[in-house]
Amino acid sequence: MSAVDPGSTGSRSGEPGPGDTHGAEPAAAEPGGAESATAQWYRHFGTVDAPGNSDCYAAWSVGIAEDAELLRRIDQWPHNKRQPLLMLAAARFLGARISPYPDFRAFLDAHWEEVSRIVLARATQTNEAGRCATLLPSLAQIAADDGRPLALIEVGASAGLALFPDRYGYEYDAGPGRTRLVPAGAAPGSYPVLGCAVTGPVPLPAELPQVVWRAGIDLNPLDVRNPDDVAWLEALIWPEQDFRRERLRLAVAIAQADPPLLAAGDLNDRLPALAARAPSDATLVVFHSAVMAYLDAEARDRFRATMARLAVERGCHWLSNEGHTVIIQADGSLVVPEMDESRLRGRFLLLHNGRPRAITGPHGQSLEWL
Ligand SMILES: C[S@@+](CC[C@H](N)C(=O)[O-])C[C@H]1O[C@@H](n2cnc3c(N)ncnc32)[C@H](O)[C@@H]1O
Repeated sequence: MSAVDPGSTGSRSGEPGPGDTHGAEPAAAEPGGAESATAQWYRHFGTVDAPGNSDCYAAWSVGIAEDAELLRRIDQWPHNKRQPLLMLAAARFLGARISPYPDFRAFLDAHWEEVSRIVLARATQTNEAGRCATLLPSLAQIAADDGRPLALIEVGASAGLALFPDRYGYEYDAGPGRTRLVPAGAAPGSYPVLGCAVTGPVPLPAELPQVVWRAGIDLNPLDVRNPDDVAWLEALIWPEQDFRRERLRLAVAIAQADPPLLAAGDLNDRLPALAARAPSDATLVVFHSAVMAYLDAEARDRFRATMARLAVERGCHWLSNEGHTVIIQADGSLVVPEMDESRLRGRFLLLHNGRPRAITGPHGQSLEWL
C-alpha cells in the first residue's frame, strides 16, 4: 500500500490518501553513500506529509531518518512493511505517547519485538467515516433521480464505516450558510456530525437517502466487534487528531449495533457475486475511497471493466473518490487531462460513472463541486 497520497505516486508501499497517507516512497539511495531509501522515506514523511497533521510524527520520523541503528532494524522487515505510518501506528497501538524523539526511541527499544510483530501482522487500513460527507450529495442525487432506495457496496471497505452514510449527521459549511442534516430518530451525541466545507454548486440534499442494503469487500476486513481491530483503527489516526478519534468511536458504535456484511477477498474477485446479492428493487451504488492506489494498472482495468458490465446489466452507479495519481489510465493518459494537477495535489477527485464531479478533502473535510 502506498504510504502516500496527496501528491504521491500511489505506490503500493504505504497508504493512499493524504492523512492516511504518508510519505511517498523515495527513490533508492544514490550510489556513493547518500541517505538510504528507508531514511529518505522517513525524512519525506517527517518533512512533507506529517507537518500540519502531526508535529509528533514529524519529529519522530525525522529522528528515525537520522538513526542508523533503528534504520538497520527497520530494513530487516519486508519492503512494504517499512512504511512510516505502519511503524508509527504499531508503536501507538502498543501505547507510545506523544513525546520527544529520545523518549520514543526508548519506548521502541523496550518494545521492539512487539512493534515488529504488529508491523508484520497489520497493514495501514485507516477507515475514515468523514469521507461520507463528500459522497453523500452524490448518493442522495442518485437516489432522488432513480426514485428508489440505495443498495451500497464499498470495495476496499476496511471495517465498513463508510457504509453508513444514512446514520451520520452532516454540517456543510458554504461560507455564508450552513446545511445541517441529521439521521431521523437518532439521539444527538449518538452519531458523528461530519463537518465539510463546500464550494461550487454542490447539490446538497434536504434529507438523507434511504439505504436498504450495505456490504463491503476487503482483502482483510476489520471487525468492529473485535477490540484489537478497533484499537488498530484508533492507532492509525495521527496522534494529535482527537476529533478524528472521537468521530471514529461514534461511527464504530453505529457499526457495532448493526455490523455490515463484509466479504474477505480481492475486490475484483468478489464484486460480481456480491453485486448479485443486492436487492433488485434498490439502486446499486459501488464506491471506493483511498483504495485504487493499492491496485496495479491491470487490476484497475479489470475493475473498470466489471463496473462497465454492472452498469449495463444492473444499472449500477460507480463513485470513485481517489487521489489523482491513481486515476491514470492504462494507456498513460489522465482521466481529466485538462485539469491542472496542482489543483488536485493533496486532495481526491470524485468521479461519478467515470465523470469528474468534485475535488474532495481526503478525510471528507471539503467538497469543491466542479
Ligand atoms: C486506506 S484503506 C481505505 C478504507 C476505506 N475505503 C475508507 O475510505 O475509509 C484501503 C483499504 O483497501 C483494502 N484493499 C486494498 N487492496 C484491495 C483489494 N485488491 N481488494 C479488496 N480490498 C483491498 C485494504 O485492505 C484497506 O482496508
